[in-house]
Amino acid sequence: ISKSDSQLIVMHEFAADMYHHILLNTEEGQAALDYLENRGFTRELIEKYRIGWSLPEWNYMATALQRKGFSEEELTASGLAIQREQGNGYFDRFRGRIMYPIMNESGKTIAFSGRVLENTKQEAKYMNSPESPIFQKSQVLYNVNHARGAIRKNRKIVLFEGFMDVIAASKAGVENGLATMGTSLTAQHIRAMKRFAQEAVICFDGDDAGWEAAKRAAIALNEENFKVEVAVLPGKMDPDDYVRENGSEAFKDQIIGKPHAFIAFAMMHARRHKNFQYENDLLQYIQEVLQLLAGRSSSIERDLYIKQLSNETGLSEEAILQHYRKLENKSIERSRPPKEQPVNTQPAKRSP
Ligand code: GTP
Ligand code: MN
Ligand code: MN
Ligand code: MN
Ligand code: MN
Repeated sequence: ISKSDSQLIVMHEFAADMYHHILLNTEEGQAALDYLENRGFTRELIEKYRIGWSLPEWNYMATALQRKGFSEEELTASGLAIQREQGNGYFDRFRGRIMYPIMNESGKTIAFSGRVLENTKQEAKYMNSPESPIFQKSQVLYNVNHARGAIRKNRKIVLFEGFMDVIAASKAGVENGLATMGTSLTAQHIRAMKRFAQEAVICFDGDDAGWEAAKRAAIALNEENFKVEVAVLPGKMDPDDYVRENGSEAFKDQIIGKPHAFIAFAMMHARRHKNFQYENDLLQYIQEVLQLLAGRSSSIERDLYIKQLSNETGLSEEAILQHYRKLENKSIERSRPPKEQPVNTQPAKRSP
C-alpha cells in the first residue's frame, strides 16, 4: 500500500469517527438517531457498522480535514470534499446524510455512502464516494470485514442489494451477508467472492428490479461455477422490511433457510407476469426455461425440469424434449470455436 493510499485511509478513518461522534453525541445528530431507532437500529448495530451523520453545513468536513493538515490535493483525491468551480475553497460531498462507512477487509474505511433522512424527488436517496485509488466500486462488497469469518464457517455467501439489508440480516443472526450496493454484480465482485466461498444465496428485493437483478446475478454466478440458490421475499418486500415485519426467526427459517435452486428460481422468474391461457406466454415460458437448461450439463436436472414443464403446461415430455435438443444443438454450435480462416499464401500483388 502506497503512502498516498494510506493517507487516504487515514482521512476516511478520521471522517468516519467524526460522523459517528456527531450522530451519537451531539444535538445535531438527534434527528438522525431517532430515524435509525425508528428503523430498528440498536446502539450495538450503530456501533458495529460505525454509522454516522454528516452535518448539513457546506464545508464542515473540508475544514476539519484541512485543520488536521491534509492538503488540497488530498482533500479532492479523497472525494470527501469537492473544489468549488467558482472562487476558492471546498465544499463537503456529504451534507445532512446518514453515513455508512464502506470498509475494506481489514475494517478500514475506504469510502462512504450517505442516505438522506427523508426521501424526496430532488435528491438521490443514496450518494456514494467517487472512485479513488482506495475505492473501486466494481470490486468492493459491503460488509466483507464483518462477514469473512461467518462465510468461511458456513461455506456460503448471502448476497443482498443494500446496506440496510445486510444490517437487518446481521440483526437477525445471518452474519454471512454481503451487498453489492445497488450496482450490478461484476466479474470482479465474483472473483472477490470466490476467495471466500463457492456457494451463494441471492436474497434481493421482492420488487421487479430485484427480481431482474437476481436473475442476472444468478446467471453470472452460475457461469463462474458457484452453486447458486435464490431466496425469494413475498410481495415487494426487501430483507430489511421482512425482518421488521416478521422477525428474525421467520427470516432465518422461511427465507434464508428455504432458498430455491437456480433453475427453480429461473422458472419462477419466467412465470412471472405470464398467463398460460395465452399461447404466446406459454411458448415463451417453455423457450426461456429450455434455453437455460441447454446451457447446463446435468441430465438429472434436465429430466427433472422437463417433467415439471410438462406438468405445468400440459404438453408431453417428448415434445418438450425434442425442442430442448434443438436448442442444445444450437448452443453447442455457438460454443464451438470459429473455423480457421484460410491463410493467404499468395504473395501480395505488386502495383505496376
Ligand atoms: P432503504 O430505502 O434505506 O431501505 O434502502 P434500500 O437498501 O432498501 O434501497 P434500494 O432497495 O432502493 O436500493 C438498494 C441499494 O442500491 C442501496 O442500499 C444502495 O446501495 C443502492 N442505491 C439505492 N438508491 C441509490 C441512489 O439513489 N444512488 C446510489 N448511488 N445508490 C443507490
Ligand atoms: Mn431495491
Ligand atoms: Mn431495498
Ligand atoms: Mn427501495
Ligand atoms: Mn430497504
